[in-house]
Amino acid sequence: MHATRLIHLTGDAISLVLEPNGALPVWRHFGAKLGASADPLATPLVDALADAWPAAAARPLPPTILANDPPLTLLPIHGLGWFNQPALAGSRPASGGDLDWVQDFREDDLNWDEHALRIALSDDVAGLGLTLSYTLDPTSGVVSAWAEIENRADTPFRLDWLAAACVPLAPGMDQVLGFSGRWTLEFQENREPLGIATWRRDNRRGRTSHDSFPGVIVGSTLADDDGPVLGAHLGWSGNHTMLIEPLADGRRQLQIGEWLAPGEVVLEKGARYRTPTAYLSFSTQGLNGLSAGFHRFVREHVLAWPGGTMTARPVHLNTWEAVYCEHDPEDLKSLASAAAQLGVERFVLDDGWFHRRDNDRAALGDWWPDARKYPQGLAPLVDHVRGLGMQFGLWVEPEMVNPDSDLYRGHPDWAMQLEGRPLITGRNQLVLDLANPAVANYLFATLSVLLREYPIAYLKWDMNRDLASAGHRGRAAYRRQTEAYYRLLARLRDHFPALEIESCASGGGRADFGALQHTHRIWTSDSNDALTRIGIQRGFTRFFPPEIMGAHIGPADSHTTGRRHSMAFRAAVALPGHLGLEMDVRLLDADERAELTRWIALFKEWRGVAHSGTLRQGDIEPSLAWVQIVARDLGAALVTVYRRFESANRYIAPLLVRGLDAERRYRVKILHMPVAPHFAKPSGLLAALADEGVVLSGATLRDLGLPVPPLPPESAVVFSCVAVDD
Ligand code: GLA
Repeated sequence: MHATRLIHLTGDAISLVLEPNGALPVWRHFGAKLGASADPLATPLVDALADAWPAAAARPLPPTILANDPPLTLLPIHGLGWFNQPALAGSRPASGGDLDWVQDFREDDLNWDEHALRIALSDDVAGLGLTLSYTLDPTSGVVSAWAEIENRADTPFRLDWLAAACVPLAPGMDQVLGFSGRWTLEFQENREPLGIATWRRDNRRGRTSHDSFPGVIVGSTLADDDGPVLGAHLGWSGNHTMLIEPLADGRRQLQIGEWLAPGEVVLEKGARYRTPTAYLSFSTQGLNGLSAGFHRFVREHVLAWPGGTMTARPVHLNTWEAVYCEHDPEDLKSLASAAAQLGVERFVLDDGWFHRRDNDRAALGDWWPDARKYPQGLAPLVDHVRGLGMQFGLWVEPEMVNPDSDLYRGHPDWAMQLEGRPLITGRNQLVLDLANPAVANYLFATLSVLLREYPIAYLKWDMNRDLASAGHRGRAAYRRQTEAYYRLLARLRDHFPALEIESCASGGGRADFGALQHTHRIWTSDSNDALTRIGIQRGFTRFFPPEIMGAHIGPADSHTTGRRHSMAFRAAVALPGHLGLEMDVRLLDADERAELTRWIALFKEWRGVAHSGTLRQGDIEPSLAWVQIVARDLGAALVTVYRRFESANRYIAPLLVRGLDAERRYRVKILHMPVAPHFAKPSGLLAALADEGVVLSGATLRDLGLPVPPLPPESAVVFSCVAVDD
């Protein structure tokens, strides 16, 4: 009956519509759900649309064009009339010049249902096979997409680019939110208008990187809670490319995939290359709606917890900023005892514990306890920590080797190198070639010895340099390295299923859904400066839920910025994440210890809500950032407001709390409010909020909001809302 039956994938709030045509399907829609969620007519409606407006009719052609002027497909390819960025680029080396640089695929097999599309195609002239897969998780609205190419001809095919996903952006989606950064300043948000030039970010550093997080958000206004936004992320811990290019019809295309070095992927006959998975989502409820979808997806489909479910996130003490590489077991025992008294639940022994590791110039690769510092091994310390009721965690950086190490002296050829090219060090270290089985086996064996010998609950897995000229037998090996890193993690998790792992790369240099499939926490940044952290954590939580966000209370004087902050500000900023301490807690006086103990107790009281609830964030004004997390059952909310800098406004506008049950009543309390010498004592509503609390309905909180007390710069106020049982 239908001339053109459209492919229609749909979830609770998103629709993807494509028009099949015997070749690569043409994009008709990627965005808001077409038809109401329970509307049985939605799919026939889309088909009716297709009958009335097949792709060709929907785009009447202007004069002076080629006879073939293809619209945007699932995988646009250069050479037969498509003049924009192709989603596939490659060729077949031959004497005198490459062949098969133009591809033209015919559909072999098309399978789709409401939630998934899989299409297999082939190009008999170029001798290639292609498979494209889009899977939609209906509740979170996140689409997982990948592409795979196969060389079916006798001679090798060299691949230069294959997008994992290529999707259209409707006209009007012309604002982009991208991310930049560096060490101690990751996930910095940049908003730019999209113009006629292509917007493009490449990462060639060989790890996810600090400066080009593989995620991008596009929208019309990029507002917190309203308006259409599309987010894309590549779940890959290596190189990547993201680009947004205007098309001649007012739309734009977004492509995302792995950046390949020259000759990095050369497919022999029968060989295949599958892209990393791209994750895309769409929301009509602004940036917070988009984040809620990504958080839900990560919780339900990315994270793989030991035992299948997340346990309450234990409070850490990480030793790095307390002792750096100066390890003495007796000293560390006293640090552990002091930490336990505050309520710490996991003691993580950072860098400095292994063979001759006195500073960052030597020892990486020699993963056994330093006999000078630990004459009886780690057992006395581990036993002490566990005797205090805490778990024990250990720092490692397995992918690296210092030239000054036994490992390098024994196996200089294990470091990645290109013959005839200089060996470039970073933090005095070289990268091991993990794709060499001897290297992977060594690392697996050495780490296994530690994991068997000691009851280690947690590894902080660090990675402290970019890859530079990453070579494996002369060929570029960024991809091989990333795959080998995943294999090593998987092998360890297989043998030690109770182990939790943190992904760290000089702070947040390896944060992506690929790493997160094998790990359970991301060390967000080496900056524990609370002011800096507000922005870092905002960018991070656009894609990642707060329970995997390592967030530590550092010393009063930040080690990375030198700025000084109150305990309350440091704690309130770290509160929604996976809390830890990164300081020598023995140096605190009695009042500070008591205050820190209270904040840790508060974290424990609220982690259940914060780590499963719906997070929203925004600004009251540029100087005032807020984060709200509403419990899954809408029974409670944790609300924080952070004053970044002074503002000329005398009063602060009320903070609207959205997402609670409008009909229910909540007792609202101020859990922490700063004081300054010239501040008046709180009176009226503020005093009541700070005392017994005030009962307000969800509707009042949503429409009238909460009064925000005066806040000095670099301070915070924390509210709780708890449903009152009638
Ligand atoms: C990196 C990490 C830090 C710490 C040091 C140890 O910089 O990000 O947290 O572990 O290495 O050398």
